[in-house]
Amino acid sequence: MSLGTKAGDEALVVFDHVGFAYADRDGATSVALDDVSFSVAAGECVALVGPNGCGKSTALRLLAGLDEPDAGEVRFDGEAITAARMADQAFAKRLHKRVGLVFQDPDTQLFCPTVRDEVAFGPRQMGMGGDELEGRVADTLALFGIEGLAHRAPYHLSGGEKRKVAMACVVSCAPEVLVCDEPTNALDEDSVAEVTGFLKAFVAAGRTVLLTTHQADVVSALGAREVRMDKSHRVVR
Ligand SMILES: Nc1ncnc2c1ncn2[C@@H]1O[C@H](COP(=O)(O)OP(=O)(O)OP(=O)(O)O)[C@@H](O)[C@H]1O
Ligand SMILES: [Mg+2]
Repeated sequence: MSLGTKAGDEALVVFDHVGFAYADRDGATSVALDDVSFSVAAGECVALVGPNGCGKSTALRLLAGLDEPDAGEVRFDGEAITAARMADQAFAKRLHKRVGLVFQDPDTQLFCPTVRDEVAFGPRQMGMGGDELEGRVADTLALFGIEGLAHRAPYHLSGGEKRKVAMACVVSCAPEVLVCDEPTNALDEDSVAEVTGFLKAFVAAGRTVLLTTHQADVVSALGAREVRMDKSHRVVR
């Protein structure tokens, strides 16, 4: 396990001629990514944009190692993310510590009895405990203005509240790269401002963001570099 052997000047995240198709139940396949190449440098904020179904969420799944490309490579810090590498628990753990994915649907991510437990889960998995863990949870709840939700059951929260909790759960693990799938979807105006403010501060602190969004004003508020995909599942040149 290395994840720290980046060759030359390669960017932190590299999609290199990536192809991916989902296998449907009837044996057919649906293409999600076709010859997709783009990169994200350390400290950059990149917005992956494009129409519904063009492949944005799929690209993020490949970066998190949840699926493997059929063609080409997804590399993080110089190493290809493959099913074989992800089978090595040490590699998978290290990748997930460095790259945090906030899913498009927060319900797929929330499973603990309380919001507090939810936000503590990741750091605890990484071996944190005691006052350090309490401090991390309190800081993260405050960062998203969700201290008042700490003892609530995640499944009783509103859509927007769930989205902020899901983001807090990933941020509590202090990833280097925050990968957010439509982070401002279903949020009111103030919450959109809070989340974009947080993402800007995250990047200003030297960290890296890759997000997807359908909101052009979010891209400009973040000053993000846009990578646009189209219905043919390709990056628009
Ligand atoms: N589990 C799956 N099984 C089969 N096909 C899938 C699956 N998930 C996604 N797809 C298909 O792959 C393509 C890309 O889907 P993806 O979710 O990556 O798009 P997206 O760009 O994130 O869209 P949206 O803007 O609606 O979130 C779509 O055609 C979709 O129907
Ligand atoms: Mg999507």
